[in-house]
Amino acid sequence: MRVIGIETSCDETSVAIYDAGQGIVAHEIYTQQAIHEKFGGVVPELASRDHIRKLLPMVKRVLSADGRGDRPDAVAYTAGPGLIGALLVGTAFGRSLAWSWDVPAVAVHHLEGHLLAAMLEDPPPSFPFVALLVSGGHTLLVRVNAMGDYQILGDTLDDAVGEAFDKTAKLLGLPYPGGPALEKLARQGDPRRLQFPRPMTNRPGLDFSFSGLKTHALNTLQDYGDEGQVRANIAVAFQQAVVETMVIKCRRALRQTGLRRLVVAGGVGANQALRDGLQSLVLKEHAQVFFPRGEYCTDNAAMIAYAGYLRLTAGYYEPAAFNARARWSLEALC
Ligand code: KG4
Ligand code: ZN
Repeated sequence: MRVIGIETSCDETSVAIYDAGQGIVAHEIYTQQAIHEKFGGVVPELASRDHIRKLLPMVKRVLSADGRGDRPDAVAYTAGPGLIGALLVGTAFGRSLAWSWDVPAVAVHHLEGHLLAAMLEDPPPSFPFVALLVSGGHTLLVRVNAMGDYQILGDTLDDAVGEAFDKTAKLLGLPYPGGPALEKLARQGDPRRLQFPRPMTNRPGLDFSFSGLKTHALNTLQDYGDEGQVRANIAVAFQQAVVETMVIKCRRALRQTGLRRLVVAGGVGANQALRDGLQSLVLKEHAQVFFPRGEYCTDNAAMIAYAGYLRLTAGYYEPAAFNARARWSLEALC
């Protein structure tokens, strides 16, 4: 069975084909970064228009890269959560493709895609596991019992962690998206110079709060002046605070659930300092950590094709009518 996946929930247009025997056999991601950069964030209307421009040629290329040339057995598309206009492009396109090919269609929850992305790697994690989902829009600790069975253990009370990276990077004069740029600048910083707080770690629970770190960065910049080395020192202190906070919460989540597998998902999962921090955590906890490759961490259609494949084989199909949802609870899935 081969499933074509379509992802257009935010500012990446992506198409992939998952083959039940061979795994991902074709995958393309186009990032709209250059379009949104000058606005310092994603402009929803521009995102929708560009998805429309890119999607059809990308589907054609992915189908020919697959080497088989014939139609897939099913279509999976991201139906939410995300930017409604952007979601409607992929949803309408995916549902129409399925209709014209006369194959089943399945609507995929974007976060379910992220949660299952590590299962595309070798070795895949087995259920149940604790997932740390860290992206531009979400910061979640989730107990993943099985496909469709998710329990949210912790959430952010304000900014998502990727958003905190992006906002702090902006303060430091770095381009959008700020996460990778801040990570690069942090390498030039002296980690002993500045100490940032570890928010919400001295009280019980698994929730996060990151908006204070951004304010702390702003105050530090005002106190120490706007010089290059100060910026690098702020970048490394901010990153260390985020990483250590994540490590403390992941340790708590593993101990609280008694689980020994930690899976990382979402764009911030590409951060090397976070990967190193979690790697040493699991060594101490006699646990294992699973990271998807960078391409499967940020928004991508490989995870959507794969989640769609799992849903289809479990018997889920979409009727001819379709629906995109800007908001969609992960725990409402079954
Ligand atoms: O999962 P994703 O591609 O999109 C969604 O938000 O769904 O995540 C994008 C976020 C952005 O905030 C970006 O700055 C952050 O992930 N990010 C990083 C790194 N690479 C991407 N943050 C820190 N370090 C990185 N290396
Ligand atoms: Zn995402």
